[in-house]
Amino acid sequence: MVEYREDDGFARDMDAADPLRSFRGEFLFPEPPRGEEPVYLTGNSLGLQPRATRGAIERELEDWARLGVDAHLKGRNPWLPYHEQFRGPMSRVVGALPHEVVMMNSLTVNLHLLMVSFYRPTKERFKIVIEDSAFPSDSYAVASQASFHAFDPAAAVIRLKPREGEATLRTEDVLAVLEREGRSIALVMLGAVNYLTGQWFEMERITAAGHAQGCVVGWDLAHAAGNVPVKLHDWNVDFAAWCTYKYLNSGPGAVAGAFVHERHTAKQRDSEVARKRNSGTGIERGGDAATPGELKRFAGWWGNDPATRFAMGPEFVPVASADAWQLSNPPILALAPVKASLDIFDRAGMSAIREKSVKLTGYMEYLIGKWCGGKVRCLTPREPGQRGAQLSLVVPGAGRAIEKRLHDRGVWVDYREPDVFRAAPTALYNSFSDVRRFVGILREVIG
Ligand SMILES: Cc1ncc(COP(=O)(O)O)c(C=O)c1O
Repeated sequence: MVEYREDDGFARDMDAADPLRSFRGEFLFPEPPRGEEPVYLTGNSLGLQPRATRGAIERELEDWARLGVDAHLKGRNPWLPYHEQFRGPMSRVVGALPHEVVMMNSLTVNLHLLMVSFYRPTKERFKIVIEDSAFPSDSYAVASQASFHAFDPAAAVIRLKPREGEATLRTEDVLAVLEREGRSIALVMLGAVNYLTGQWFEMERITAAGHAQGCVVGWDLAHAAGNVPVKLHDWNVDFAAWCTYKYLNSGPGAVAGAFVHERHTAKQRDSEVARKRNSGTGIERGGDAATPGELKRFAGWWGNDPATRFAMGPEFVPVASADAWQLSNPPILALAPVKASLDIFDRAGMSAIREKSVKLTGYMEYLIGKWCGGKVRCLTPREPGQRGAQLSLVVPGAGRAIEKRLHDRGVWVDYREPDVFRAAPTALYNSFSDVRRFVGILREVIG
């Protein structure tokens, strides 16, 4: 436990002792309007550009220029197996096994592709559970999946609401809904860290409770990946998807991630081994994308077993891993920034990032309490185990104006309807001094 103090010596000492302090220099900060030091607290929206990103893209452009199509095999990072290099570093960020993750598409696309496989409603079991304050794209995605299967979204989608007068959901209330309605629920799909309130759900408990009722449990990690330490494999999560432009600093609209627990592909792997042993050629198996466990998916050539991908036959032989959900060959220029970013995460390590993040956010909460008194209300849970970097703050009566007034002073926060502004100090490039400057300016701005 850190004993926070208000004096600026505290922030300076914390910065001096910060084992991650050198990473700040690896990022490019935007210029504030009046040329002061920027305080960038919107890594929950768009993370900063790592200095290494430009070089990573340029390397691929150069290889394309120099080698043309030959760069697929002869490039410095050959493009043919390019996507394979993400498995290790990405799996370490989200607590997965390497073959359980794949980088592809963007977040909402991945949610849909995964729901094609994991939302298989029946007349009795057709409901989808999300949080009432889910990001709109998630709401649209689940409602459209329900109606795609001819269910009325109004009846099929259960939106979890906090209790009257409360901003966040209590785990016991989530579990009570699963207990009560479990037999009619096909899928539980929550935002692991809610975008609006910053609440980090008790993922392991909710996943286990969903499974106990026979539901599939998937998570949207948009605000969790690179922010909080999740253990997708150990928590037995069925599937997950996340974007990489927030805490993962891979640039606007960057290529997203997807996770499929190996138990959903293991049966397929067993059957593939048997098939290869029996056939020798590895290609004559039927084109059904389902595993022996009846898993359906949409298919494309990059999801085919690499051993037979270039045999160019008409039959789809899915690779026994998350790669099976890949449809197209990967966009190399778009993936290069993800490579630059994950290299930073590998060097920093999620446990050091989380350790600093808890202190940064705790410090911000402490100073807001001391300096902004009753003028700022915090929606985010107080317990560090139930939140990530972000605090969701309300200044009654201020509305959107607060975002602009802070921005004029060189502080980046963002505003979300109806009245919330979000501030997320991120461990890789924010300092304790940033947090202190932010709260000092906030005090002046609302004063
Ligand atoms: C929780 C959540 N879900 C979905 C999205 C949409 O992401 P994309 O536009 O990459 O599909 C976002 C974007 O911020 C998000 O925060």
